Amino acid sequence: MNGYRDLRIGLLGCGSVGAQVARLILEHGDELAARIGARLTLAGIAVRNVDAPRDVELPRELFTTDAERLVQGSDIVIELMGGIEPARTLITQALQGGADVVTANKALIAAHGPELSEAAEQVGAQLSYEAAVAAAIPILRPLRESLAGDHITRVLGIVNGSTNYILDRMDRFGDSAEDASRVASELGFLEADPTLDVEGYDAAQKATILASIAFHTEVPVDAVHREGITQITAEQIEAAKSAGYVIKLLAIAERLQAADGTDGVSARVYPALIRRDHPLAAVHEGKNAVFVEAEAAGELMFYGAGAGGAETASAVLGDLVSAARRHVVGG
Ligand code: HSE
Repeated sequence: MNGYRDLRIGLLGCGSVGAQVARLILEHGDELAARIGARLTLAGIAVRNVDAPRDVELPRELFTTDAERLVQGSDIVIELMGGIEPARTLITQALQGGADVVTANKALIAAHGPELSEAAEQVGAQLSYEAAVAAAIPILRPLRESLAGDHITRVLGIVNGSTNYILDRMDRFGDSAEDASRVASELGFLEADPTLDVEGYDAAQKATILASIAFHTEVPVDAVHREGITQITAEQIEAAKSAGYVIKLLAIAERLQAADGTDGVSARVYPALIRRDHPLAAVHEGKNAVFVEAEAAGELMFYGAGAGGAETASAVLGDLVSAARRHVVGG
């Protein structure tokens, strides 16, 4: 494996996703090097507390608290800290320094995606965030690339794994919302602040990202109509069940055309009644499913793991390999 050029990878954050990303880079190093034509060298992992327990055992010398320095010395930065700051500043610094950036940070992309994409464009760097929506499911790249020649009219689906887990357990096993939430948390599905999931903020962020890519327009996350699942009771779930329905938290983004021909976008998140024979009714536990409707392609469905450390890490690694290949092509 000698002779490969080294690409220095700076990892920011080591939670459930970050730890899996580090593991995959270290464990699959030779395979990835052969596939890329360059070696991915994990230059460091920036964390707040070097001694905090991790999901994966990783060499201690990789850890640092100096995120800025790590960013400065990296060819590709992977941001998995979450939240707006310091992620926004560090990503901007990385891009301005010419590094490619991979992130799973849906809150940041939903709020500041256009500004960060512009920073990337200015220096010819790549900003990618496939893992920000529906974790392991490839959905942003198909929307942006595979369907680039089509006219997408609607994107809808289940894009939050933890609320799907909670509603599914309540529906199929009669679990209480509290019990189901506890397990969803243990599985690493819930956000550090679970309000983001159960009040629909996380799904609204994903709806914004999906809509902006599908419809080539900015969709302000605060303008997305949002209802969560906290008001859903066991009685409602039972009533829906007896009538042949299941309750699912849906995110829907569609093109609208006013009578005068003006284009618009509608984006909303709310718990909806889905008929039990509909494919979305069969999306269980932490799984996600996204339907895309396009003028020529018709209806497409993307299905898979919508949350989880290793599952999300898979999408991060996909973006990482794509960014790394650019360095090799670019010489
Ligand atoms: N909390 C998120 C969810 C994690 O439940 O879907 C994946 O984005």
